[in-house]
Amino acid sequence: MTTQTETTIMDPITPASGNTETPIDATVVEAVAKVTAEVAVATAPAPVKTERKIKAEVLVVTSGKGGVGKTTTSASIACGLARQGKKVCVIDFDVGLRNLDLIMGCERRVVYDFVNVIHGECTLRQALIKDKRFDNLYVLAASQTRDKDALTKDGVEKVLADLSDDGFQFIVCDSPAGIEKGAFLAMYFADRAIVVVNPEVSSVRDSDRILGLLSSKTRRAEKGQKVREHLLLTRYSPARVEKGDMLSIKDVQEILGLEVVGVIPESPEVLQSSNSGEPVILSAESNAGQAYDDAVARLLGQKRELRFTSVEKKGFFAKLFGG
Ligand SMILES: Nc1ncnc2c1ncn2[C@@H]1O[C@H](COP(=O)(O)OP(=O)(O)OP(=O)(O)O)[C@@H](O)[C@H]1O
Ligand SMILES: [Mg+2]
Repeated sequence: MTTQTETTIMDPITPASGNTETPIDATVVEAVAKVTAEVAVATAPAPVKTERKIKAEVLVVTSGKGGVGKTTTSASIACGLARQGKKVCVIDFDVGLRNLDLIMGCERRVVYDFVNVIHGECTLRQALIKDKRFDNLYVLAASQTRDKDALTKDGVEKVLADLSDDGFQFIVCDSPAGIEKGAFLAMYFADRAIVVVNPEVSSVRDSDRILGLLSSKTRRAEKGQKVREHLLLTRYSPARVEKGDMLSIKDVQEILGLEVVGVIPESPEVLQSSNSGEPVILSAESNAGQAYDDAVARLLGQKRELRFTSVEKKGFFAKLFGG
């Protein structure tokens, strides 16, 4: 049996009495509805991507020039913050190279890495490597893939936001050298930047470029906010500064116009520590370790005088006996 509704749709629409217009065919009505729907889809505003909140303090360790001490610094700062009781994750953004896990001494325990998490090949928890010295310190290793596009902005945002939701207070991002994608993504979500500089002209000049990127290519910059920048001068040799072979702290500070968060002396213990997988900040005897400890305290707002920044004057007896 045919219902009234079906009849109305299938039959030509009968004009009301007295209406002389031509009857409208149901297929025309259907076609008009289809076009209207298509126009609505085409003109609808694109879905707005909601930004994930990252509650943790994101610190990027960056530099203009390569090989200045970023990974050494990331490992020590992360350990130092953990030693001060903060829940910390340190992430290696150097896709293809993988260095941080060696300096942190966890290279044999890497099963999954940062890229695996971003590509959904494992969970974040599976990839986080818990430090053996501090329960509140974790490492997210870099992938050894050659694919430089393996990191994505959305993927990085998700990892940082998930870590924050998991109670991490500090996320230290170890940037690769240069100003390519990895370096850009390492700094994009940063609240603060530690700009690592060696006291030489080329390192200082290249840092200037990074400062430009921090003030234009970060999420904070896009919102009209500032990334707080700190200068960490490393491989500093007071003796060479005195001889005029190296730039002084004041020189570098004046050129870059940044507040100094730490001055780390040139020290053979840095390489020894890296080789043994023990970040130098954990070597209580080492000047470089103590200088990193001061830097961490300053990052946390404590006051510490600069140390190891002038040539040690030998005492009378040392001079007399050649000590
Ligand atoms: N204070 C220091 N005293 C002596 N050597 C140091 C010091 N800091 C870093 N180094 C040495 O400098 C070299 C480079 O350090 P590191 O790998 O941390 O630099 P990087 O900036 O991460 O390099 P890349 O740009 O390749 O990632 C290493 O051999 C390290 O041992
Ligand atoms: Mg490095």
